Amino acid sequence: MTNSTPDILLIGVGVMGQGIAQVAAQAGHRVFLYDTFEGAADKARAKIAATFDKLIEKGKLARPEADATLARLVPVPDLASAKSALLAIEAVVERLDVKHQLFQQLEDLLPEGAILATNTSSISVTAIGAGLKRPERFVGMHFFNPAPLMKLVEVVHGLRTGKAVADEVERLARAWGKTPVHARSTPGFIVNRIARPYYAEALMLLQEQALAPEALDALLRAAGFRMGPCELMDLIGLDTNYAVTQTVFAANFYDRRFTPSLVQRELVEGGQFGRKSGRGFYAYPEGAPLLAPCPAAPLPAGSTLVVHGSGPVADALGDAAAAHTVSHVPTSSWVGLQVGSLQLRQTDGRPAWQVARDEGLAQLALFDELPTAAGGALAFATTGQADAAQAAGVLQALGWQPVPVQDAPGLVVARTLAMLVNEAADAVLQGVCTPDGADAAMKLGVNYPAGPFEWLQRLGRARVVQLIGALDACYRGERYRVSPWLQRGPAA
Ligand code: NAI
Repeated sequence: MTNSTPDILLIGVGVMGQGIAQVAAQAGHRVFLYDTFEGAADKARAKIAATFDKLIEKGKLARPEADATLARLVPVPDLASAKSALLAIEAVVERLDVKHQLFQQLEDLLPEGAILATNTSSISVTAIGAGLKRPERFVGMHFFNPAPLMKLVEVVHGLRTGKAVADEVERLARAWGKTPVHARSTPGFIVNRIARPYYAEALMLLQEQALAPEALDALLRAAGFRMGPCELMDLIGLDTNYAVTQTVFAANFYDRRFTPSLVQRELVEGGQFGRKSGRGFYAYPEGAPLLAPCPAAPLPAGSTLVVHGSGPVADALGDAAAAHTVSHVPTSSWVGLQVGSLQLRQTDGRPAWQVARDEGLAQLALFDELPTAAGGALAFATTGQADAAQAAGVLQALGWQPVPVQDAPGLVVARTLAMLVNEAADAVLQGVCTPDGADAAMKLGVNYPAGPFEWLQRLGRARVVQLIGALDACYRGERYRVSPWLQRGPAA
């Protein structure tokens, strides 16, 4: 493509098409808008004009620039009126037959050198492009909603997509202010695949009655996520989220790792779709109830806190305990604290009852990954004769908000992060993306506070493998199988 701002044809100007058209027109392209629903193209242009009016009011956009951009948005009555387009982006209904037929038509209509791109979020790019005369010119260009704001574009390679075409799409996306990340066409591409455990682990914990939705949300927010899994599913729509989970499950030949949740199915069956239906995990407009207060026994004056183990978590415990009398056993085989005969250990994935049994401990509490900020919610579980109020009192004295949970393996944050890392590792193993691509995709596509490979670095490969191995030993199935990429070590 020699012209740096070629004409673009946007087909299907609903939620996504409209946003993508705005982005391309703002970058200087003439954008033809086509939609089979009569009047939809004019309506999309009017909606963009309304968005611009708001931006002008806020002083974020100048009128002449808005007018020039709007002049580049050209509704067309038929595809033949857009013959000069060198890039067609399709954002029509999510149906293989419709998309397939559309691209066959476009291939005959547009210049030979035109690039054909689909914004599909769940259909195989290879399948849509099958049967095209020039399959090397067909590629996925997957934007995120809302397209004008979300930085990520997954550049999805089907089996026959040409490298030059994918590179050209990457260049264009960059010129539009986006961050393109290359992905192989596999179910869920990058983001919708790696994100599955964020929902799945939460739903599994709910199914086991381990804790309440508002506790789950508080704990994951304390780990740095902008929204907890339950409030996020309520926002996305439980029906939509369930549909994506089912699609990924089926597209992976029913790999049990991606099994949908009975808890989610029941909410959907009951019409509790989340915010849009007024009720999901929570009732709206109220939203999540306040966390139930956790009974905590104040730490007796003069108590000595013994920090066990070494490394960043032991250091953080030492820092948090600095106002108290502290001693340190860096050679300990476990990481955590001891107060009198009560041990508080960071979870290694085994449930507390098992650690207590394996190591002959009478009083044991396990705690989760430490929150990213002081005062954050921190899950803990107790077993045996351990006094939950005493354990809570210790965590509170160190500045965290203790949240009691049932004795679930890997607790809440540790198991969620480990499973996100594991899924990302499998994606890399299978050539879906690079580690850097996965990190960028998760941070920009779903606003994660860190990328899975950044977490891997923080937690350490051995800890992630240990956590998932313990979950696997507990649940026995295919869900918690450690990715070979993680097992085989850094040389991979
Ligand atoms: P939408 O329902 O808002 O818009 C689809 C538009 O396509 C409608 O205006 C419809 O009249 C039009 N249309 C249907 N068949 C057509 C055809 N044969 N030719 C021309 N126009 C046609 O849907 P939405 O949400 O914008 O999704 C569109 C595509 O983008 C789907 O493939 C979807 O999977 C994908 N996507 C959606 C995201 C989202 O969050 N909504 C995110 C990323 C991708």
